[in-house]
Amino acid sequence: MKILVVGGGGREHAIIQKLKENPEVTEIFALPGNGGIAADATCVAIGAKDIDSIVAFAREKGIDYAVVAPDDPLVLGCVDALEAIGVPCFGPRKNAAIIEGSKVFSKDLMKKYGIPTAAYDVFTSPEEALRYLETAPIPTVVKADGLALGKGVTVAMTREEARAAVREAMEDKKFGESGNRIVIEEYLEGPEVSVLSFTDGNTVIPMVSSMDHKRAGDGDTGPNTGGMGTIAPNPYYTETVAAECMEKIFLPTIRAMKAEGREFRGCLYFGLMITKDGPKVIEYNCRFGDPETQVVLPLLESDLLTVMRACTYGTLEECKVKFREGNACCVVLASKGYPGSYGKGYEITIPERLRQNVYVAGAVLKDGKLVTGGGRVLGVTAVAKTLPEAVKDAYAMAEQVTFENRYYRKDIGARALKAVK
Ligand code: AMP
Ligand code: GLY
Repeated sequence: MKILVVGGGGREHAIIQKLKENPEVTEIFALPGNGGIAADATCVAIGAKDIDSIVAFAREKGIDYAVVAPDDPLVLGCVDALEAIGVPCFGPRKNAAIIEGSKVFSKDLMKKYGIPTAAYDVFTSPEEALRYLETAPIPTVVKADGLALGKGVTVAMTREEARAAVREAMEDKKFGESGNRIVIEEYLEGPEVSVLSFTDGNTVIPMVSSMDHKRAGDGDTGPNTGGMGTIAPNPYYTETVAAECMEKIFLPTIRAMKAEGREFRGCLYFGLMITKDGPKVIEYNCRFGDPETQVVLPLLESDLLTVMRACTYGTLEECKVKFREGNACCVVLASKGYPGSYGKGYEITIPERLRQNVYVAGAVLKDGKLVTGGGRVLGVTAVAKTLPEAVKDAYAMAEQVTFENRYYRKDIGARALKAVK
């Protein structure tokens, strides 16, 4: 089977490494992939948002199955376009990807179907939003409606911060069209849990839970990033919480999307907060998380391609999805300065025995050598019996992967370890 994977980050590298375990897979193309992925797949310089070129490439190569991983192509309808030329895909169609593509859509969906989430209001003009903020409870959370590279959310601890977020989104158009509408919502407190799930539109199978570390600095300080590390499973996601999530969040969401004529097939990501009133949805993503995938897939025992195809063909109910016992930790090695500006082009050294543990995100091949090319350069994942061991092993390995200007958080897993104790 010839497989196409759209995307080019650490998440896609983890997906590709897992897909390769299936002996039916003869060739994997990554569009665009990256310098590190090139060791595991044929990378082709076609951007993940260039739907026309992706479709033309799939037709030319006779692709048998496609995995569309990032949010942008999903929201733009990449799956619809590939299906139209007869290529079966893993990933939601455009009308279902809207669950991530529009915060207003997802909030209204949750309200209509009674799915627990933060109380909210929608605003279409900055004047209205600013007037509302004069008396709104503080802290509050301001969210741009559309995709904003993960930067469209401001948790405002003061009224002034909230006003600034409204002005940036709606007047300065910091996120372009994505800020034409905004959501202002109730501030929630509690530990966060990420739950990725496989779904074929009827059946939903949660994967092992995980915890992201979004801030750049130790102790959850500094600016928000795409994610500086992850651990799995998340100790805050107890069996009781899991059962409550299935009953009140996961199944109701899948059924709601179906009832709306927007059947969701693919990976639905539930960003949850475990509040004192129970679990609530912070966000939905229409795709695998990054870097959550880098701890979740190494714990997947079942064959990934088989499960993905069951989602595509609506046969997930008959499919056994097994995760192995154990824990995983992924430490992201970034370029110093990220998420601000940073240098590029530094040579990366990865010891051969660690190849399988490294998921490359931002690196390019230059004269046959792997050099840094992005803010988040790569993730190093360790799997072990216990969480303390996984964290220790991930850091021991991370030490051995070197490049100039390397920066990483020293406390990935610390919060989870506290919960375990
Ligand atoms: P998002 O980009 O939607 O993942 O949001 C980024 C982060 O903002 C989340 O991971 C939370 O830590 C925080 N956040 C989002 N919504 C809320 C909320 N209603 N209350 C408190 N924190 C929130
Ligand atoms: N790690 C958060 C996300 O993928 O959106």
